[in-house]
Amino acid sequence: MNWAVTTYDSAFGYVSAHGAPLVDLLDPQPGERVIDLGCGTGAFAAEIAERGAEVLGIDGAPEMIAQATALNPGLSFIVGDAHEFTVGESFDAVASNAALHWMTRDPDAVIARVHAALRPGGRFVGELGGAGNCAELIAAMQTAWRVFGLGEPELPWYFPSPAEYAARLEEGGFTLRLLEHADRPTRMTEGPNGAADWVRAYAARALGDVPPEMVEPLLERVNELAAPALRRESGWVADYVRLRFAAVRKADGPAPMPGGLLTDPLI
Ligand SMILES: C[S@@+](CC[C@H](N)C(=O)[O-])C[C@H]1O[C@@H](n2cnc3c(N)ncnc32)[C@H](O)[C@@H]1O
Repeated sequence: MNWAVTTYDSAFGYVSAHGAPLVDLLDPQPGERVIDLGCGTGAFAAEIAERGAEVLGIDGAPEMIAQATALNPGLSFIVGDAHEFTVGESFDAVASNAALHWMTRDPDAVIARVHAALRPGGRFVGELGGAGNCAELIAAMQTAWRVFGLGEPELPWYFPSPAEYAARLEEGGFTLRLLEHADRPTRMTEGPNGAADWVRAYAARALGDVPPEMVEPLLERVNELAAPALRRESGWVADYVRLRFAAVRKADGPAPMPGGLLTDPLI
């Protein structure tokens, strides 16, 4: 998708602000080599680098990588699709903030690429939208689209349940160490037009097929529908639900033994 890079950082800086504690879960050590997958404009990568680790930021959007490079001189960033990226050497950790739920084509392929990038024992630490994320915002969109006689809005995310993502990680060769699925009501501090601003920033693809003259009244209706659940006296709050995990790449299995035995025959 196309990201409005300039408004992304200023208007929705809370995406990065809420990533802050994730760096503690990652606990990067000086000299470690860490990939920030879906790095956006590089704010999370910069936090990792502040702890002394060597960071490589990877993002599918060239405009994000251009901005990340401009904002963080001295850090390395490359354009790459998380479903396909390869790196020359093994990394100690892969971290990802608010990005894995955008990688919808094949979540198992993303996990496989992360596995391939890590040394055995390497960490995969991430936070993404979990099942139920933005349920009120999405319901308001779907109702508004129906009221205006439009088809279902195209929603570009994958919000897995904890059980589903745990199974994917374990089948992908990881041992899960921590998995949290928690409500994270998040103030839209810089999105004064609430749900409408959120749709423009994050669900712009759904607006692609909407006749231009219909966009404003449609988004007004989204705001009316979402307001009872999400507008407080102090401002709009997004109904975020986050899935946060820490996993470790399993050691490679034992080499097959002659005669088809896979384990020590004495055990
Ligand atoms: C909401 S932003 C989060 C950025 C950053 N991690 C942060 O915390 O601010 C999601 C990012 O994921 C990237 N992204 C989405 N799909 C991707 C893919 N298939 N491969 C690589 N990056 C992807 C987007 O380009 C975007 O920069």
